[in-house]
Amino acid sequence: MYSFKDYVSNGMVYVGNMFRPQHKMLSQLMIYATTCCQSRCKHCHIWKKEMEMLSLEDIMKIMMSKCVTKNTTVGLEGGEFVLHPQADEIMGWFAANHQNYTLLSNCLAYNKVIGLTKRYKPSHLYVSLDGNKETYKQMRGIDGYDSVIKVVEAVKGTVPVSLMFCLSPWNSFADMEYVVNMAKHFGVDVRIGIYGSMSFFDTNVDMIDAGAGDWHGNIPESVKATDENYDFIALYGEWIHRRLFRNLERILSKKIVEFFYGKYQWSGMHDETYKHYFSRIKKL
Ligand SMILES: C[S@@+](CC[C@H](N)C(=O)[O-])C[C@H]1O[C@@H](n2cnc3c(N)ncnc32)[C@H](O)[C@@H]1O
Ligand code: SF4
Repeated sequence: MYSFKDYVSNGMVYVGNMFRPQHKMLSQLMIYATTCCQSRCKHCHIWKKEMEMLSLEDIMKIMMSKCVTKNTTVGLEGGEFVLHPQADEIMGWFAANHQNYTLLSNCLAYNKVIGLTKRYKPSHLYVSLDGNKETYKQMRGIDGYDSVIKVVEAVKGTVPVSLMFCLSPWNSFADMEYVVNMAKHFGVDVRIGIYGSMSFFDTNVDMIDAGAGDWHGNIPESVKATDENYDFIALYGEWIHRRLFRNLERILSKKIVEFFYGKYQWSGMHDETYKHYFSRIKKL
C-alpha cells in the first residue's frame, strides 16, 4: 500500500505542477518498452500489435527529460518487458542510475523474471493475477497461474511484491476475493484495477456496467480492509453510473431514464432527492 511519504511527495509534485506549469515534474512514468507479449489476454490486445521496441538509448533519452527527477517512480512494462531483447541492459542501467524503478510482469517467463529481479532488485515487482487457475486460463488464454505462484514464492522477501488484479468482464468479485486472500497468504500487497477501454491496448469490449447489480454490496469484505482498493472500486461505481446516465441523457429525456433506473441526481449529497435538489437550486 502507499505510505504517508508517497502521499506527501505526490501531493508536493501536484501542487508544484499547478503553480509552476512550465516546470512540471512527473511523480510516475510508465515506460511501455515493448509491444511483444506471449500471453493471449482478452482484456488487452497488445499481443496482436506489430512488434515495437524502445531501445536502451531511447529510454536513456526519456530519462534525461527535465520532468523526470530522482523521485519519479519509473515503471517498466509493455507488453511483457522481460521479453525485450535488451531487458538485462535496461534493468542494469536502472539499477546503476535510477533505483526508483519498478517491474510489471505476467510471469509466464518465470525463470527470466526471477533471475532479473534477483540480479537488479527493482524497488517493487508487480505481478498480474486475475483469479484462480481456471479464471487465469479463461481471461488470459494461457495456463499461466502456476508461473505467477513460482515467481511470488521465489522473490518475496527479496523485493516488495504486489499482486495486480484487474476486474474485467472475464472475471468476478469472487476472483477478486480469491486474489486478496492469496496476497494475505503470501504476505504481499494487492493492487486492484478495473478494466478500461484503452486505445493503446486495442480493447474491443465495453467497460463494466457498475449500475447493473448491487455494485457496493458485491465488493468483498476482505477488500474493505485495504482502504485504497476499496475506495477506488466504490468510486468507480459512482463514476461509471454517472457516465452511463449522462450518455443515456443524450438520447432520451431524463424522465424516461428515471422510469427505468429510478430517480437520480447530480448532487454529491446522496440522501437528497432529485426534487429537493432542484427546489434548493431554484431558491438560490
Ligand atoms: C499492460 S500489462 C503489462 C505488464 C504485463 N504484461 C502484465 O500483464 O502484467 C500491466 C497491467 O495492465 C493490466 N491491464 C491490461 N489491460 C487492461 C485494461 N484494458 N484495463 C485495465 N487494466 C489493464 C494488466 O492486467 C496488467 O496487470
Ligand atoms: S495484459 Fe500484459 S500479458 Fe496480457 S496481453 Fe497485455 S501486456 Fe500481455
